[in-house]
Amino acid sequence: MEPDTIKVLVVDDTPTNLEIVSEVLESAGYEIAVAISGDRALKRLQTYRPDLILLDIQMPGLNGFETCQKIKGNPDLASIPVIFITALNDANSIAKGFALGAIDYISKPFQKEELLARVKMHLQLQNMTQQLEQQVLDRTFALETALSQLKASQLQIVQYEKMAALGNLVAGVAHEINNPIGFLNGSIQNAEDYVQDLFEYLATYQELQPPNDQVQESAEEVDLDFLLDDLPKLLHSMRGATHRIKGISTSLRTFSRADMEYPIRANLHEGLDSTLLILKYRLKANDQRPAIEVEQNYGELPEIECFPGQLNQVFMNILANAIDMFDEIAQENTSEILRNQPQKIMIQTATLAEKKVVEIRIMDNGEGMPDEVKSRVFDSSFTTKAVGKGTGLGLAIAHQIVAEKHGGTLTVQSALGQGTEFCIRLPIGAD
Ligand SMILES: Nc1ncnc2c1ncn2[C@@H]1O[C@H](COP(=O)(O)OP(=O)(O)OP(=O)(O)O)[C@@H](O)[C@H]1O
Ligand SMILES: [Mg+2]
Repeated sequence: MEPDTIKVLVVDDTPTNLEIVSEVLESAGYEIAVAISGDRALKRLQTYRPDLILLDIQMPGLNGFETCQKIKGNPDLASIPVIFITALNDANSIAKGFALGAIDYISKPFQKEELLARVKMHLQLQNMTQQLEQQVLDRTFALETALSQLKASQLQIVQYEKMAALGNLVAGVAHEINNPIGFLNGSIQNAEDYVQDLFEYLATYQELQPPNDQVQESAEEVDLDFLLDDLPKLLHSMRGATHRIKGISTSLRTFSRADMEYPIRANLHEGLDSTLLILKYRLKANDQRPAIEVEQNYGELPEIECFPGQLNQVFMNILANAIDMFDEIAQENTSEILRNQPQKIMIQTATLAEKKVVEIRIMDNGEGMPDEVKSRVFDSSFTTKAVGKGTGLGLAIAHQIVAEKHGGTLTVQSALGQGTEFCIRLPIGAD
């Protein structure tokens, strides 16, 4: 049977009627099936699916109205259009037919042309309806896809903005620290000079004017010898501390480096260090667990052509995940167990000279992941965290930044109970 043959089921208890109708429709190329009662029609419909049903109203047994009601009550058949054939030309019967779901009626005795024209029109209508429904389905599907893409990119924008906001905040703090630190640094230098002068003055004084008892006593009271010895050291340490704060401020500015349109040469160790600095407060010991140790095993890395701010975001997402995981473990274990098995993050860097590639491995000795999690970690919106705790975008974004923005690779190795390792490989770029 050709798939596009149009099938019509004619239901009538009068053989002559059946014959005429069949003949008209068959000569127009339709495939006809007949049933001589409502019951038989329903039975036939269990295995046969016509495109249209012509239904006589007055039949013994189930009449046309009842048969129509049954057809329309069956979700599998309800969409097949039904046209009544009726000698009952009164308005009531016609209204009843429509109310039961018929789409049209043809009065007996009928004109062949009219019968054909109506059947044709309704088949066309049906065809168009089906096409429209399919179009609506297609469009709905397209809209749903677009919507979920939109949601994903919205989340991505939020993530980028969060990073940008953090960057701005950090840059602002770094900037504000700079002035007072500059002032302190200069002042300490002056203070060292002044103290040196005072010491010289005191020495001269002591030499030319040996102290009397009272002065001597006072010197002992303030422990002058210790003071003279300690004050320069104290000032020296103060200067050391201001240098460290300056270093932190530089690091903060490195972290917050706004990304330019084009890549620049940058030192990835600086990026790693500044990211660790930002995460320091999360690595510290808390009520639930001891501090997380960080082991840095840096090899020789050349500066590489990259977007440093975005790579910091990659380091941040990977490191934050490891800390999240350690925090989760801490929720489920006693501090006793945690103390016996120190939680560690290891960062290893190396240059793979032959491939002109740098490699950064970030490993943890945490609980690892089962395969079904591992295979999906880079999927956008995949998370095992509670609603509100994770968006599942961290690694998807990291992957995008490494692969698409830098032409590198980001891979994961992990097994349940054995920790996790993320490996970032980045091309060194043009010399
Ligand atoms: N170091 C790790 N150890 C164990 N599981 C990890 C580790 N890193 C990532 N995962 C798993 O990968 C999933 C996806 O991580 P991803 O960073 O993409 O999203 P997230 O951390 O859940 O959410 P978000 O980063 O948006 O806050 C996590 O939910 C977690 O199950
Ligand atoms: Mg994450």
